[in-house]
Amino acid sequence: ISRVDFPNGFIFGTASSAYQFEGAVNEGNKGDSIWDKFTRQPGKILDFSNANTAVDQYHRFKDDIVLMKDMGMDAYRFSISWSRIFPNGTGEPNPEGIQYYNNLIDALTEKGIEPYATLYHWDLPQMLEDRYGGLLSNQVINDFEEYAFTCFKAFGDRVKNWITFNEPHGIAIQGYNYGIQAPGRCSILGHFFCKKGKSSVEPYIVTHNILLAHAAAYHSYHCNFKESQRGQVGIALDAKWYEPISDVDEDKDAAGRAMDFGLGWFLDPLLLGNYPLSMQKLVAERLPVITSEVSQIIKGSLDFVGINHYTTLYARNDRTRIRKMILQDAMSDSAVITTSSKHGVPIGERGASSWLHVVPWGIRKLANYIKDKYGNPPVIITENGMDDSNRPHITIEKALQDHKRINYHRDYLSNLSAAIRQDKCDIRGYFVWSLLDNWEWNLGYTVRFGLYYVDFKNNLTRIPKASVKWFKNMLISKRELSYR
Ligand code: GCO
Repeated sequence: ISRVDFPNGFIFGTASSAYQFEGAVNEGNKGDSIWDKFTRQPGKILDFSNANTAVDQYHRFKDDIVLMKDMGMDAYRFSISWSRIFPNGTGEPNPEGIQYYNNLIDALTEKGIEPYATLYHWDLPQMLEDRYGGLLSNQVINDFEEYAFTCFKAFGDRVKNWITFNEPHGIAIQGYNYGIQAPGRCSILGHFFCKKGKSSVEPYIVTHNILLAHAAAYHSYHCNFKESQRGQVGIALDAKWYEPISDVDEDKDAAGRAMDFGLGWFLDPLLLGNYPLSMQKLVAERLPVITSEVSQIIKGSLDFVGINHYTTLYARNDRTRIRKMILQDAMSDSAVITTSSKHGVPIGERGASSWLHVVPWGIRKLANYIKDKYGNPPVIITENGMDDSNRPHITIEKALQDHKRINYHRDYLSNLSAAIRQDKCDIRGYFVWSLLDNWEWNLGYTVRFGLYYVDFKNNLTRIPKASVKWFKNMLISKRELSYR
């Protein structure tokens, strides 16, 4: 697989996020985010770590850009930390925050790396959480719009690709169902990780506000900046593929519902104007209503669909609703049981994280599903990757030989190429998660997702894994290839 297997202009890049990469959480007049507070609470993070230093990209971005360039990457997806721009969430923008991202963006464009900026990768200013409950309040819609406006205005002369929110589904489930991620609210009574039992209505409220905040930012861009800046605005949705565990209709329907409660929750309102019918039916009493006025605001409010895709699961109808009795999460509302094996045979090899199974054909099915259901919108794969575990007995030498990762990308990219070439899916780009090993939320530093190894014991030195060389070969330009 190489560049020639993709259309001209197809973009390759790596992805990251502010809290997982920057460190320097108390520098540059940054305010606290909900992740700063979350990591201070004991017992939330598997290895008791935080991202106060992370991989220190705040100070090392110039060196990191050299690494991207050296691999032949076209683009870099990073996120802007809201609490660097507005330490209190609102008010006057913080000049030091603006300056930092100006420097980063300038350094990227100087090297010919196209910036893709995410506005919200989970690090809400803590002040907004304290003031009105953060994403649970519709006050966040205006504040997000203002923050987005500030960023468009400050950076939009150079940033042409904007992602409003990263993984609203992940936010709802991890942050408001399981409570294992910030702000740590929980719908599951007596759940090990969180103290307070919160009503299972919260995930639906939060995501509704996110959709509205996204749409507000989209329209603000198109009213105020589109003409002069000529960029585009999308959103990044985490989407697993759900494969029916059998050919029986009830399992096929279950897989459809799993897609509805995963991707459709967002893409249906954004492209079709309302929540999926299965959701309207199954969570009628908790799902906010999208009125026809609201529908007009949300529908069509994106220029591309960002997809974070890592893995595939089997889906089976939950006849007994047993999952619902135990978990009370948005997924169990769909009356689906998901599983990673069939008759004891795993769906694919496992990554270090328990949720990640290597299922390369899933990305092709997902791409076709989006094409068929939503009328072939432009899609960018905003994340794809796999992790190795970070245990003391794994030597650096061993960690650098990441042949599993190479196979993962080779096979996912082959399937993606087939989706584009043979199936005519409109896919425009592909971002690897991630450039560097980094801080993996509640899993802390226990897993490594990077193409570059980061030596956390030795000055955060970046060392190329075998996958760096593989990507470098893969990304040799078409011209260079024809000279060979
Ligand atoms: C996201 C993801 C990333 C993770 C990656 C590996 O929100 O985009 O959670 O931040 O690090 O998906 O799990």
